[in-house]
Parts: sequence; structure tokens; C-alpha cells
Amino acid sequence: MKILVTGGTGYIGSHTVVQLIQQGYEVVILDNLFNSKIEVLDKIQKITRTKPIFYKVDLLDYEGVSQIFEKHKIEGVIHFAGLKAVGESVQIPLTYYNNNITGTLNLLRIMQEYGCKTLIFSSSATVYGMNNKSPLVETMPKDSTSPYGATKNMIEDILEDVYVADNNWRIVLLRYFNPIGAHESTLIGENPNGIPNNLLPYVALVAKKKLEYLNIFGDDYDTIDGTGVRDYIHVVDLSNGHIKALDYAVKNKGIETINLGTGTGTSVLQIVEAFEKASGRKIEYKMMPRRAGDVATCYAEASKAKKLLNWEATKNIDDMCRDSWNFIKNIE
Ligand code: NAD
Ligand code: UFG
Repeated sequence: MKILVTGGTGYIGSHTVVQLIQQGYEVVILDNLFNSKIEVLDKIQKITRTKPIFYKVDLLDYEGVSQIFEKHKIEGVIHFAGLKAVGESVQIPLTYYNNNITGTLNLLRIMQEYGCKTLIFSSSATVYGMNNKSPLVETMPKDSTSPYGATKNMIEDILEDVYVADNNWRIVLLRYFNPIGAHESTLIGENPNGIPNNLLPYVALVAKKKLEYLNIFGDDYDTIDGTGVRDYIHVVDLSNGHIKALDYAVKNKGIETINLGTGTGTSVLQIVEAFEKASGRKIEYKMMPRRAGDVATCYAEASKAKKLLNWEATKNIDDMCRDSWNFIKNIE
């Protein structure tokens, strides 16, 4: 079965491509390389001994995307491509709406034209907004707290409408919690440019002494130690969830929204401790005021994924910190 992976050279996409190839799928990658590097393809080849077909194409290039469908009989799409920095989306909302929404509309129109109606979409726990209490259940009301979150919310709604109009679609919306970790080969992982916004890449740079200390945003939350609690999930577990979702979609028409999280929360200080253990390095930190837009606690109710996809996370925080460290420690 031939699968198109948009954003397939990115962080989660590259791990999913590895698993797709290892499970016997034929993979075609589309990415504009805006937030990833072409070298990822060699790494994927090293791990799987297969070089995936790759197109440097932007989803905003309707003709370019059409040509891929013209050339290949694409039977399903896993759609990762999108811009994902919450803070940046507040600064340049039009870029975010155009890239994420128009890009997805182009993809959907082309899929429809070529009769490809199987889609796995990368949504996010951000759609639960600020007002729901964890554990977060798929049926809770949605909200948008940033233009980035709004694009995920809108795409979810668009996909619901697409299914209502044509019941032949097979769509799974996966709401990810906080992906961290890296492939055990240490060849692929997350390596953001510049100073990271997210906790794990930041902690890793403190461990490498590239940054002096971690700013912990808030120590007065109503949590186990006052710091923010999140549901961290190993990127390989997350990628596995996509293979299970694809299996499910191939067998079932319909549209399903499914959380991919572990169902457990971990505080910032617990992450610091686990990372110190994994790296053998001291992580210096300073307590800072809360970061605007953060909730105290965010973790998944993870039973729908278990019931519908027979998927659950298998790796713990120590595995995640070890694999993140093993990947990042050798990178310049
Ligand atoms: P990433 O930036 O590493 O990967 C996204 C890839 O999409 C990049 O390689 C980028 O170059 C590509 N891309 C972006 N816009 C494109 C376009 N218009 N045309 C072609 N390619 C384009 O991000 P990731 O962490 O792997 O995230 C993948 C998806 O999962 C995104 O949609 C993101 O919003 C979603 N998500 C991520 C997280 C997270 O914390 N990493 C959490 C929830 C949801
Ligand atoms: N944090 C710090 N210091 C930092 C960075 C983060 O203390 O330098 C804290 C935050 O306050 C929060 C926790 O670490 O309590 C996690 O923060 P991240 O920025 O790593 O992740 P978020 O939960 O804020 O958001 C991430 C993605 C979103 C996505 C969400 C749910 O950035 O895109 O997970 O999937 F929507």
C-alpha cells in the first residue's frame, strides 16, 4: 500500500516513515524542508535500508501536489505538514492560517479528485484550550488559545464536514500530547533551530552547556511540586499510533478523534530530575513567573486509543530522556 506522508522529513513524520517502511508500506514523502533537513532521508535509509521517494514540494503549490498524485497511486495520506510554533503564530497569524489551512484544503481537494479518501491528521491537545480539566477526553468542548491552535481546530471541523458530505472517507484525527524522545538508533530526533521554546530541547541544551540554565515558568501551580504538568509521550510510541490509526482507517469508513498520550502527567521538576539521571549532568534552573497561555496540568484520557486502535504508550519518562539525550549529545 502506497502512503503519502506530508511533513515526512520533520520530527514526528520521519519516525513514522521509518515505521511505515519497516511494516512494509511504500512511502512517498512530501516536504518543503522549511523546518527539516534533506539529510533526514539518508538517516531513514540507514535505519531501514530503503530510500523513500521524496518530493520537495510545498502544499501551497497545488500543481506540484497534484503531480505527485498523478505519478503515484496514493492510497492513504498521513498529514503532518504544518507550522507549529504557538508563540510565532501569534506574531504572524496570516502565515499560519495560509500555510496550515490553505495547505490542507489543497491536499483535501486533490485527494478527492484522485479518489484517495483515507487520511490520518496531526491534531493537538491544544484544541482542549484552557477550561477543561485533565484527564482530557475526546468529547470535551474545544477552544482556541492561539492562531496555531485555531488552525488545528478549524481543520478538525473541515474534516468533519468533508465526512458528512461524503461518507466514503476514512479519517482519523490524532490529538497528540507532548512528543519527546528520539529514535533508538540516535540518527533521527528533534533538533530545532535557534533557542527552543519547548521544555525538552531547552533542557538538553542546558545539559550540553550551550545554555546556562533553564527558566521554569511558574512554581505556584496547584500541582505536585508547583510546576506545570504535561503528558510527555515518546515519539516512537506516537509514530506507532499512526500505523495503528492507518490500519483502523483502512478497515473502517468514518471519522474518529483520538488522543495519543500516556494518560500520566509529569512536572517540569520531575523532567529535570529524569534528564539529570539520563545525562549524568546537572541541570541548573531558575524559577520564573508563569508563561502566558500555559495551563497548570494537561494530560490525556487515553482509553479510546486502546479500545479502538489497540494502541497504548510503552515507554516511560526515563526512556524518553535517555533517547533525547543520546540523540542530542552528539549534535553540534
Ligand atoms: P516539524 O516541524 O518537525 O515537521 C513538520 C514538517 O512539515 C516540516 O518538515 C516542515 O518543513 C513541513 N512543512 C510545513 N509546512 C509545509 C508546507 N506548506 N508544505 C510542505 N511541507 C511543509 O513538526 P513535528 O513536531 O513533526 O509536527 C508534525 C505535526 O504534528 C504538525 O502538524 C504539528 O502541528 C503537529 N503537532 C506537533 C506537536 C509537537 O509538540 N511536536 C504537538 C501536537 C501536534
Ligand atoms: N516550560 C518551562 N521552561 C521552558 C519551556 C517550558 O518551564 O523553557 C514548561 C511550560 O511552562 C510547561 C511545560 O514546560 O509547563 C511544557 O512546555 P512546552 O513548551 O514543552 O509544551 P506545551 O505543553 O506548552 O505545548 C506543547 C506544544 C504545543 C502543543 C502542546 C500539546 O508546543 O504545540 O504541547 O500537544 F499544542
